[in-house]
Amino acid sequence: MKEIKLNTGINAPMIGFGTYEIPPSETKSAVLTALEIGYRHIDTAQYYQNEREVGEAIRESKIPREEIFVTTKAMTDGYETTKAGIEESLAKAGLDYFDLMILHWPMDDSIGSYRALTEAYQVGKLKNIGLSNFNINQTKEIMASSPVKPVLDQIETHLYLQQGKMHKFLVENDIVHESYSPLMENAPVLLKHPVLKQIGEKYHKNGVQALLRFLNQEHIMVIPRSTNPTHIKENFEIFDFELTPEERAEIKKLDRRQPIDGWPASMRIDE
Ligand SMILES: NC(=O)c1ccc[n+]([C@@H]2O[C@H](COP(=O)([O-])OP(=O)(O)OC[C@H]3O[C@@H](n4cnc5c(N)ncnc54)[C@H](OP(=O)(O)O)[C@@H]3O)[C@@H](O)[C@H]2O)c1
Repeated sequence: MKEIKLNTGINAPMIGFGTYEIPPSETKSAVLTALEIGYRHIDTAQYYQNEREVGEAIRESKIPREEIFVTTKAMTDGYETTKAGIEESLAKAGLDYFDLMILHWPMDDSIGSYRALTEAYQVGKLKNIGLSNFNINQTKEIMASSPVKPVLDQIETHLYLQQGKMHKFLVENDIVHESYSPLMENAPVLLKHPVLKQIGEKYHKNGVQALLRFLNQEHIMVIPRSTNPTHIKENFEIFDFELTPEERAEIKKLDRRQPIDGWPASMRIDE
């Protein structure tokens, strides 16, 4: 499966290109490399300060705009600032619309922020709207507040934090589970991991590719980040093999419910 249908009926690619911590000066070239390799889904954010360069890469690639799924994230709190932030992000990126805009993390007035996303969705400036770092109760509050359901929740998900409980809730509510930091920001651990390594070898793949494929087969979107063209290419080469149910069960057993150190407590949602 290369794409997944969102609850708006729009398809989104199962793999995207993450741009967190890619400095603006390197973003255009990294995104252009990803687009040349075949990625058609780019994940940026107001917080990353590289929306402008993402937009530049899209134009320079000459790929028709409608073929690329572009996500950004609002870091504003409340209706007015979020409304202004949407316009600012569109202007910076030089785009008429975003394919998806999500609230980057819960805030005091997330309901007001989501109302601004809802209005922008209703006039076509945002083709889909959603959430990031929202737990079950926070997601329920948003759903109760708006006529437009979030299409996805982008949450920390990887080998050691598989988010089983949240996943179940999202599936039951027709909300897609999107993994951020799918490589735990620590790909060497995955490359060396004996189980991933062994499973990958069977398909002539490495541990990173085995894990990305596993997540996709669990119907979890992934957005790995890299500035290394070899890695960018490797991460995209995950659609020519399929893990067996036994292999998936083996990887599932490796969950430790262990988040990456360093994210703020407000981003911890595995309850
Ligand atoms: N919503 C949120 O709050 C949130 C939070 C965090 C992240 N995100 C999103 O999720 C994206 C991905 O997460 P992340 O950036 O935290 O990290 P990540 O994708 O888990 O890991 C990135 C690291 O893995 C390395 N890497 C990538 N592919 C590799 C490969 N094939 N072999 C070896 N090393 C490899 C990269 O180094 P090289 O450059 O050397 O390849 C980089 O150091 C972000 O860029 C962002 O778009 C969202």
